[in-house]
Amino acid sequence: MAQTERFSAVEIIAAKRNGSVLTDPQIDWVIEAYTRGAVADEQMSALLMAIFLNGMELGEISRWTDAMINSGERMNWSVLSRPTVDKHSTGGVGDKITLPLAPLVAACGAAVPQLSGRGLGHTGGTLDKLESIPGWRASLSNQEMLKVLQDCGAVICAAGDGLAPADKKLYALRDVTATVEAIPLIASSIMSKKIAEGTSALVLDIKTGAGAFMKDPQKAKELAEVMIGLGKRAGVKTLALVTAMDVPLGLTAGNALEVRESVEVLAGGGPPDIVELTILFAQEMLELAGIKGIDPATALKNGKAMDVWRQMIKGQGGDPDAKLPVAKETLIVTAESSGFILGMDAMKVGMAVWRLGAGRTRQGEAVQLAAGIEIHAKPGERIKQGAPLFTLHTDTPEAFVRAQESLVDSVVIGDLPASGKLDRLPLVVERITH
Ligand code: URA
Repeated sequence: MAQTERFSAVEIIAAKRNGSVLTDPQIDWVIEAYTRGAVADEQMSALLMAIFLNGMELGEISRWTDAMINSGERMNWSVLSRPTVDKHSTGGVGDKITLPLAPLVAACGAAVPQLSGRGLGHTGGTLDKLESIPGWRASLSNQEMLKVLQDCGAVICAAGDGLAPADKKLYALRDVTATVEAIPLIASSIMSKKIAEGTSALVLDIKTGAGAFMKDPQKAKELAEVMIGLGKRAGVKTLALVTAMDVPLGLTAGNALEVRESVEVLAGGGPPDIVELTILFAQEMLELAGIKGIDPATALKNGKAMDVWRQMIKGQGGDPDAKLPVAKETLIVTAESSGFILGMDAMKVGMAVWRLGAGRTRQGEAVQLAAGIEIHAKPGERIKQGAPLFTLHTDTPEAFVRAQESLVDSVVIGDLPASGKLDRLPLVVERITH
């Protein structure tokens, strides 16, 4: 017998279309009924567009988030003897911070239960990067996840099907209905998964600039404030750093290339921006977790973080000593003039990396593990005409032409302004605590 529904989807869509605040029972029902299949995709699409256009109050976003959490399981790490803390980045180009950060924070005494995602579009995904390590497995059962956490203090894996299934359906629908970039929808999507993941504390990395979802720093700040509000309402200690994504992070973008660079950081080297952000986020995470008197910079230098990395990779079936995949073909792109590099457009570099095969156009597609870009000079450095600027890596050399098209005008070379300062965002734009 057909279930009698408490509400009508059409009435809820009309209410949001007319700018009304949705009630708690309306929100609970629409999320539950959509997950169950009783609200159709076309109805949810209309509701998402109405939310995109008319927004939501914090109370509505909080209830929407709770309803998404309640669509699945909520993990619990109370058996662990260490405090749990996690980091989430809204995504960027060359953003491999999670890779050195999770083992570093574990080496300093916290437990990091990190459920990560895959890349979509021009931004890379942590799981795609780690899958370039031979044998490494992203899918773990809850028992396996607990064992790796207990043994190493950190685990990085895919969210299981049981975690916030409403978000899985909603995210796929937003992706094809031009409703991704709405603050209530981004905030509830990310926070529902992070709260359901069961972490006690969370540091958010909200990227801003050309290569980020939130290109405008003011919008990035707004997103951070909403996400912090959601975290705190759910009892998760949450703070955010708004950080620069105008220029790619580090000197590599692409899966295996980024793993190589992360291992350099764990070995005490690596590019200064990656090292600085990794240490900064580790300090914030440790403070939020209540761990005092431990300097993450030391744990990075003395090899303790590397030990945890190796153990964590092995714990998930990977071989930390195995050779990483290498692309079949490479192509060097050189500087067209001499001078200082004044700017490098993260979006254009990210698009080129994606066109080389490192990213996917549809969920579920395979990515090339070895594809990507090495960057030989960054903004602020002097370069000579004809000197290497980028090395492009791919297994499909026909991709070079389209990748090079993306790189046109990606780098500005000229004279340094009289102030000697580049017109770019500081690495940390703002620290937000409420
Ligand atoms: N990542 C998510 O998980 N959800 C969003 O809406 C955006 C980024």
